[in-house]
Amino acid sequence: MTEDDARRRDADDPGHRDLFLIPPAPGGAHRECAYFAGNSLGLQPRAVRDGLLGDLDAWAGLGVEGHLSGERPWARYPELLVEPAARLVGALPEETVVMNTLTVNLHLLMVSFYRPRGERVRILVEESAFPSDSYAVRSQARFHGLDPDTTVVRTADPLGHLAAEGDRVALVLLGGVNYLTGELLDIPAITRAAHAAGATVGWDLAHAAGNVPLRLHEWGPDFAAWCSYKYLNSGPGALAGAFVHQRHLGDPAIQRFEGWWGTDPGTRFRMDPVSSPPPNAGAWQLSTPPVYAMSAIRTSLALFDTIGMTELRARSIRLTAYLESLLDECTVVTPAEPERRGCQLSLRVPDAGGLSRRLSQAHGVIADSRNPDILRLAPAPLYSTYHDCWRAAEAIRKEL
Ligand SMILES: Cc1ncc(COP(=O)(O)O)c(C=O)c1O
Repeated sequence: MTEDDARRRDADDPGHRDLFLIPPAPGGAHRECAYFAGNSLGLQPRAVRDGLLGDLDAWAGLGVEGHLSGERPWARYPELLVEPAARLVGALPEETVVMNTLTVNLHLLMVSFYRPRGERVRILVEESAFPSDSYAVRSQARFHGLDPDTTVVRTADPLGHLAAEGDRVALVLLGGVNYLTGELLDIPAITRAAHAAGATVGWDLAHAAGNVPLRLHEWGPDFAAWCSYKYLNSGPGALAGAFVHQRHLGDPAIQRFEGWWGTDPGTRFRMDPVSSPPPNAGAWQLSTPPVYAMSAIRTSLALFDTIGMTELRARSIRLTAYLESLLDECTVVTPAEPERRGCQLSLRVPDAGGLSRRLSQAHGVIADSRNPDILRLAPAPLYSTYHDCWRAAEAIRKEL
């Protein structure tokens, strides 16, 4: 495979790189970096700056009146995100809300959906669960007076555990796409198995939202949450999404931590002492929405609406397959079948941290490493190119 071949593929299958600001290369022969870290922090869409400046102008020009007037009144700002976020994850608008950050949302949703009873107390997470999820579930166990070492079960085989000891499981909480290996789990099958065992099920979709098509309403988990700074390109620390299945909405039996933003918007300013939560996922909101943290999400979700996940996924499958074909001398730990992965490939390499640094400094290839021996490369179909893949493979070959 030659550089010319990569360039030809880019001409035939161009993606949407022009809509993004591509950072300069820290080193190497090329002006722009070859960016493979969109699974960690996505790049900035060009349109974000103007959108954010417009939102700042509203504050400058309206002061407190901006809550209720202007082009995008702040009191209604979260509603601008609900429909595009719902479309992205295959949810109904009433099942979807954008608020807080991911770990916060997981906690708020576990308050509602982790209800240990009798022998049914376990929380099932994947063997290589993201540390924050692991800390979150362990602290939830302690919060309920349980021992996290026996309550939290880490397993590489959630279906096997559910079949064997499902009557002990209260909650299954898994990453839809695993952050380390890039494996896409069978979300509908695991959701069905968890429910059949009598457990509730939630999904951490940090590495799945904007990466693979999702149909949350149809697949039926109790809840899900995802961040917006990876494949959703909404900036560092961008707010997270949350999904609560329709069957739970408006159910007064569900426990929920409350704040004034979770009461009915129509009566919020009556300042009643008791909340009247609306029958939608907005009932899980607590606080005044941070408008500037929502601005980039609004712009970024519009890109997904315009381009569509179907087109993006098709290009993603082609791009990742191409990258994989160039890495035939490496050990790829990500499953080979496109239906079992998103765009990320994880390579097992010696001294992954050192390699990642050399790739950046000597070649302008931005990947990342996870201790001790995993190098992660995520060609994001919105802005990554075949030529980026060629550069990454060449640089890895030279460095290894
Ligand atoms: C799979 C997964 N879960 C949870 C988190 C934590 O997200 P936050 O820092 O927004 O709470 C991350 C962050 O990268 C993640 O990748």
